[in-house]
Amino acid sequence: MSSDTVIRIRGARLFDPYQGLEAPDADIRVLGGRVLAKHEGQEYAEEVVDARGLWVVPRLVDMHVHFREPGQTWKETILTGGQAAAHGGITAVAAMPNTSPVIDSPELVEWEAHRARAQGFVRLYPVGAITVGSEGRELADLYRMQMAGARAFSDDGLPLMSSQMMRAALSYSTTLGSPIINHAEDKSLSRGASVHEGKPAARLGLSGVPEAAESAMVWRDVLLAALTGGRLHVAHVSAPDSLDAVAWAHQRHLNVTAEATPHHLLLTDDALTAWGYNPVTKVNPPLRPEASRQALLAAVRKGLIGVMASDHAPHHQDDKARPYPDAPFGISGLETILGGLMTALIRPGLMNPMEALKLLTTGPDGVLGLGCRGLAAGEPADLTLIDPTRVWTVDPGRFYSMGHNTPLAGMELTGQAEASMVNGRWVMREGEVLTS
Ligand code: DOR
Repeated sequence: MSSDTVIRIRGARLFDPYQGLEAPDADIRVLGGRVLAKHEGQEYAEEVVDARGLWVVPRLVDMHVHFREPGQTWKETILTGGQAAAHGGITAVAAMPNTSPVIDSPELVEWEAHRARAQGFVRLYPVGAITVGSEGRELADLYRMQMAGARAFSDDGLPLMSSQMMRAALSYSTTLGSPIINHAEDKSLSRGASVHEGKPAARLGLSGVPEAAESAMVWRDVLLAALTGGRLHVAHVSAPDSLDAVAWAHQRHLNVTAEATPHHLLLTDDALTAWGYNPVTKVNPPLRPEASRQALLAAVRKGLIGVMASDHAPHHQDDKARPYPDAPFGISGLETILGGLMTALIRPGLMNPMEALKLLTTGPDGVLGLGCRGLAAGEPADLTLIDPTRVWTVDPGRFYSMGHNTPLAGMELTGQAEASMVNGRWVMREGEVLTS
């Protein structure tokens, strides 16, 4: 196909949360990386894609991923992470800065964004570190990182333990307009424990983390957001008391948003019983009991949680082969986030497709201030074709990510990406990432 051929996608059901549009029989035409208006491009040849039976959805954003480059490229690279995104139907990501070195300077922000752009598999928005080296001691140069393209700031992987530093970061966010994303975990309570403090942990003899380790810090952060007027985004919420803090913030109209992961919506700490000492279930925050999972589902339905994010945390199999307490935390999630969302929320009828898809579109777009206008004419053509009825079994052997670590392995999900397009170029079709 030459570059002056129009790609015409016909017959799909359109869900465009950015424009608030739903249509049963879409006709989308793309040329030169952009969506064409009705009257444009009539003079060009067309490649028609028959998308009947599929959904077409503009830019799906996973705003919490870990690509391990620079520094840990045996776990993941920007390239393999981008390909995993393409395979999962995710066309934009926000990448956390806990690489080695930590992304804490404008040069590194620029380098990362440039690398992803040159590869073209996913639109990548860098998240800059809040503190130098994510060490929690000295504020990094947030302003210059923002100028270089950082869309948010976080020391994720590590909590910002110092309340004074958190106050400073949130104060700064009022002028920057970018959110501060905290990984809420009071380290003096979690003390290196690896799982939720509950019965399955006790049965295995693994030391546990109480939910209070998360919620105490979420409450602190919310109070500091009230004090400063700053923009706070609460990462990977897993505990009901954290949700109360977010609700409190919403009642006061504070600038506070929150996200949940598919693994916390689909699994509980009972997975520890099923997987035993296999650290594939080890993730931070840990898998919680059923009551917490239900509270999360309710919070998503109520809009307390407006974002679904994978916390894609790929690890090498050798790292995950260590004894449970020594293995790293994390789940490889980019290739299951879409099926996870559809299975947790749409399949059981908890949310309709439009509402659920907001969690991967207008939700994260709003938090990061991306300003996407969906499939409006003239916009960059980022879109995903989804087969909403396909039932498939998670097989990490088929992942493009270098991390095969997921406790969803073997689980049946409903809904899968069939094709992904970034900037008007197909990056995945029929489940195959187009690597050339
Ligand atoms: O499980 C996790 N893994 N949680 C985090 O916050 C960090 C992440 C990682 O970087 O591996």
